[in-house]
Amino acid sequence: MYEALLVLHNLVRWLVLLFGVWALLQPGPRPGALFAHILTLQVVLGVVLAFLSPLFQGALAALDQVMRTPGEARYFVAEHWVGGLLALGLAHGGLAQARKGKPLARLLFGLALLVLLLSIPWFRPLFRL
Ligand code: HEM
Repeated sequence: MYEALLVLHNLVRWLVLLFGVWALLQPGPRPGALFAHILTLQVVLGVVLAFLSPLFQGALAALDQVMRTPGEARYFVAEHWVGGLLALGLAHGGLAQARKGKPLARLLFGLALLVLLLSIPWFRPLFRL
């Protein structure tokens, strides 16, 4: 179950980025909805993954020590999900603006995409099967 979710979370990242670029180039309600909704799915997958992940759970159990030591465990416990949630808020804000036909939509989609690019663990495999 854990491995299957890790594979899914790894691959859905590419759909998130694809729809994010589309929403940035054409900031309308349809691309915006696809972006915001696939990102919502990715965040839900991430939260479930965090409960099942030996790395995440192990890091929580030794939180005090983990927070003092820069590395993979601290990255996932303290940084990765913060960026994911921030991007989620920006994407949904962008969608609300796109539905009203406001130009702010493009800025919000762009910021969401930027935060995502900075929050993705690029040191992990680009594809998992
Ligand atoms: C609240 C939001 C999120 C949470 C709680 C979360 C949680 C996690 C956890 C716990 C892992 C590591 C699992 C392990 O190695 O045992 C992980 C890895 C990863 N996450 Fe997230 N994540 C979130 C959002 C996102 C988003 C928005 C993206 C990209 C669009 C993303 C992309 C990835 C990728 C690419 C990996 C590496 C997967 C691999 O090693 O194959 N995550 N995430």
